[in-house]
Amino acid sequence: MREQKIINMLEKWEKDLPAVPQTVSRVLAAVANDFSDVQQLEEIIKSDQSLSSKILRLANSAFYGLTHTVSTVREAIMMLGYGEVKHLALDVSLIGFFGHPKELKGFDINGLWLHSFAVGSAARIISDFIKGLNPEEAFTAGILHDVGKMIFLLAEKDDFLSVIEYAKTHRVSFSVAEQEVCGLGHSFIGGILARRWYFPEYLVSCIEYHHRPDLAGSHTPMAATVALADAVAYKLSIGAAGAPVTDIPDAVLLNQVGLKKTAMKEIMHQMEKQKARVEESLAGVCLHAA
Ligand SMILES: [Fe+2]
Ligand SMILES: [Fe+2]
Repeated sequence: MREQKIINMLEKWEKDLPAVPQTVSRVLAAVANDFSDVQQLEEIIKSDQSLSSKILRLANSAFYGLTHTVSTVREAIMMLGYGEVKHLALDVSLIGFFGHPKELKGFDINGLWLHSFAVGSAARIISDFIKGLNPEEAFTAGILHDVGKMIFLLAEKDDFLSVIEYAKTHRVSFSVAEQEVCGLGHSFIGGILARRWYFPEYLVSCIEYHHRPDLAGSHTPMAATVALADAVAYKLSIGAAGAPVTDIPDAVLLNQVGLKKTAMKEIMHQMEKQKARVEESLAGVCLHAA
């Protein structure tokens, strides 16, 4: 894979799909901002017609089991809750942007989405154990940490599949395999994308350094939280991120976030309880985001 090819791909996307990253960015800002209000969220969702109709379909889906039909975005927020709709808007706008291309034979893209959702949920759980981390930022960083894999997959599918094959055969992490096969990593690609989309600095760092939290400077605790959440998703086999193992020992990550080994047991326990919900919510979002 050549770096220039990826950059060309990003440029083409920016030209062809200018509105979608804008929606993603606005939803991201609302998710990260504890002070954003119902009206602001409603306005963001309503400004994107496709996003509003998907949110309404989702709100009315069997998953939420509402007893009466929801017909406006405001009602959806009232019935499902501000936090839930905020997260749905992020999930739907991301999946709507990247899509689930049907020609991607040989790789289950929904498995990667499920992995991303799981890492978002696990990062939020972990952030509750750590002083000074914003749970909403942890959630967002978790959902987006592997965004570079999406670009890699869509830009260079054959190389992507070779990386998966290499990781499987040699039982190494995705990062090790991609360096061996292509000499370029999804975290690097994700970092380029995150900067081009003017993501906040903490998010750029987590995307770029979730496999090397030690290099994330002041964002090391957040990047290590995401890496630990990544490990939790692997251990509980939620989704598929393209490799059989992760690359950083739990003890190193726990140390970077300042937690004792015993915390891992509680984190795993809490995430286990959320596993079914994460799986069900992805199924709903995929069905209605298509
Ligand atoms: Fe990753
Ligand atoms: Fe991951």
